[in-house]
Amino acid sequence: MKDKQVEKLIKKEEKREKAVVNLIASENYVSDDVLRALGSVLTNKYAEGYPGRRYYGGNTVIDEVERLCQERALKLFKLSSKKPARTTDGVQSGGWHVNVQPLSGSPANIAVYMALLPHDGTGRIMGMTLSHGGHLTHGHGVSASGKFWKQIPYGVSKKTERLDYNELMTIAKREKPHIIVAGFTAYPRTINWKKFRAIADAVGAYLMVDMSHIAGLIAGGAHPSPFPYADIVTTTTHKTLRGPRGAVIFVRKRKAIQGRTFSTSSRSDLVLLPDLIDKAVFPGLQGGPHENAIAATAVAFGEALTPSFKVYAKQVVKNAKALAGELQKLGWRVVSGGTDNHLMLVDTWANGVSGKEASEKLERAGIIVNMNTIPFDTRKPMDPSGIRLGTPAETTRDKKEADMKKLAAKIDRVLRG
Ligand SMILES: Cc1ncc(COP(=O)(O)O)c(C=O)c1O
Repeated sequence: MKDKQVEKLIKKEEKREKAVVNLIASENYVSDDVLRALGSVLTNKYAEGYPGRRYYGGNTVIDEVERLCQERALKLFKLSSKKPARTTDGVQSGGWHVNVQPLSGSPANIAVYMALLPHDGTGRIMGMTLSHGGHLTHGHGVSASGKFWKQIPYGVSKKTERLDYNELMTIAKREKPHIIVAGFTAYPRTINWKKFRAIADAVGAYLMVDMSHIAGLIAGGAHPSPFPYADIVTTTTHKTLRGPRGAVIFVRKRKAIQGRTFSTSSRSDLVLLPDLIDKAVFPGLQGGPHENAIAATAVAFGEALTPSFKVYAKQVVKNAKALAGELQKLGWRVVSGGTDNHLMLVDTWANGVSGKEASEKLERAGIIVNMNTIPFDTRKPMDPSGIRLGTPAETTRDKKEADMKKLAAKIDRVLRG
């Protein structure tokens, strides 16, 4: 690189990444091919619009890139753009559409709300509270999702620290949300999508699944798929999916729920959800898509379609179970008693170490984690009771269960030291 200042910083970060053990549950290491696509000439092109419908000339190659990404996205999750499917609420659907242009997970979620919720302050999003494991964009007050729409909050049960679907049904029936968001940032257990669908159907709400954290596990067959049940599925591409930063929105080719779509037409029963989503992404929220990132996403989807990715996804879960189990044996309280996926929450405060202190101690020892609230936390978010640990990044580096046992012993030593 000619720019030595930036080159030096990139090299420094490369060295840091190689030197540490990375237990950040939302991070991963992309392949050289993904990096190659990200750093390609595709970054030069303006491509406002969609394949075949662009506002700029010169987009024939870009159209191919974007269509390839869409095809691979559908194939990865065993979806068809044509095959009719019946939703559980009896609505005939013409398969799935996917929008691959969202710049990241947060704008993807905001685009869905823009497409499907009223814009007059009366829209209601039933989402998990941040402190129980939801994401900011599930209706939290500091996010646009909570400023322009009202959050109907839900959390986990105090007793089990898991979702209580009966309680969710009660909340939904009382509050009548327009959309229910399932899929979380810090929830270590398998999610029962069928039960979420039943709750959405009971109140005539859309079911949106934000599978950002577990998309790679779903693609690899290590977590049940939400697609038989959801109306809309959003996901980031850079977590367990091991792609570049970005996001995609999958949407059923079905008509809008009558009286529940407000944005474009007085005849909401004639509006198809994919049209609403596409319009919300562009021109509603974004301008030119980042086609270099879309190409890199296509590469990552291609990699996730290989048999070795299935092995990877299953190993991520095996490693998380091994790490959680070993930490428990060493006397650490793991929220909800363990994990079914790629992450766990450790209640370090139960042993007298705050989350902030724990993450700082571990970083000094070369282990990178993030401090995290635990459900019903009595401490503040800037120094909560726990830490969140995840195994996707270290599994990419070929770590296995035996490595996790050693890692647990080191974590124990560091935190008690
Ligand atoms: C469940 C979930 N949704 C959305 C996002 C937002 O993604 P981004 O950081 O790309 O905006 C995250 C990020 O952590 C997440 O965990």
